[in-house]
Amino acid sequence: MASHSSQEGKQANIIDGKAIAQTIRSEIAAEVSQLSQKYGKVPGLAVVIVGSRKDSQSYVSMKRKACNEVGIKSFDVDLPEQVSEAELMSKIHELNAIPDVHGILVQLPLPKHINEERILGEISIEKDVDGFHPLNIGKLAMKGREPLFLPCTPKGCLELLSRSGISVKGKRAVVVGRSNIVGLPVSLLLLKADATVTIVHSHTSNAESIIREADIVIAAAGQAMMIKGGWIKPGAAVIDVGTNAVDDPSRKSGYRLVGDVNFDEACKVAGCITPVPGGVGPMTVAMLLKNTLEGAKRAMEQPQ
Ligand code: GUN
Repeated sequence: MASHSSQEGKQANIIDGKAIAQTIRSEIAAEVSQLSQKYGKVPGLAVVIVGSRKDSQSYVSMKRKACNEVGIKSFDVDLPEQVSEAELMSKIHELNAIPDVHGILVQLPLPKHINEERILGEISIEKDVDGFHPLNIGKLAMKGREPLFLPCTPKGCLELLSRSGISVKGKRAVVVGRSNIVGLPVSLLLLKADATVTIVHSHTSNAESIIREADIVIAAAGQAMMIKGGWIKPGAAVIDVGTNAVDDPSRKSGYRLVGDVNFDEACKVAGCITPVPGGVGPMTVAMLLKNTLEGAKRAMEQPQ
């Protein structure tokens, strides 16, 4: 017998991003091995990091490790904080010209003295596995155009929805945040998937009542637990992209990671929800591997 019969006693289904990402990584490993047998070559990904931001270093080491685990060759480029824009640019040009490099990822943010827009615009669009090149983003924004790559975190959010059996078409989706890396591209991707999309951001009045209309909430504001349980429409799907460190003296590290959604409250209202950590994060890495594989397949299968 169910322990709770009332609606209030219901708990959201937890979307296990870690498990879904692991399944995808196994699928990728199998394809990499097939490519290797067919062409005698494996996909290659250059992961470029500038400086020594702790968060960026941890993301980059996860990405490099994930490559090696599925058989993708990672080309490590570590540049000092003081590197000039011209030096970084010539490194990008060098990587653009290496045939064994099928993807190039420049970890963001870059130091202030480097113009991010100029750097991202120099990455060959055929190797733009982050999908941040203006041509790829532009095609994502337009009807009837297909970018060569979709940005990894947005692609991961949609993959979590589809692998959890949640359809997007015709649904009301609210994206919280409008960053170039997540909020904006995930809004475009939802629109391409035929959702009715609203973006709320720091200048939106009445964000709470807009969020409460959403069948699908994508939280990407970078504000720890800002979205309360009472802001969620009962039964909604909640994808929490936030990764915020908050002080926690009970942990050895002194901190813990929380999302943009108050998870414990939202669990009592939502139909399904991603946890932090273990939700979107692992999917971002899995989508990067998938993009690299797709780029490599395009390059290898092209008649010479
Ligand atoms: N910084 C935070 N997220 C990302 C990402 O998905 N790609 C890159 N390159 N940098 C990031």
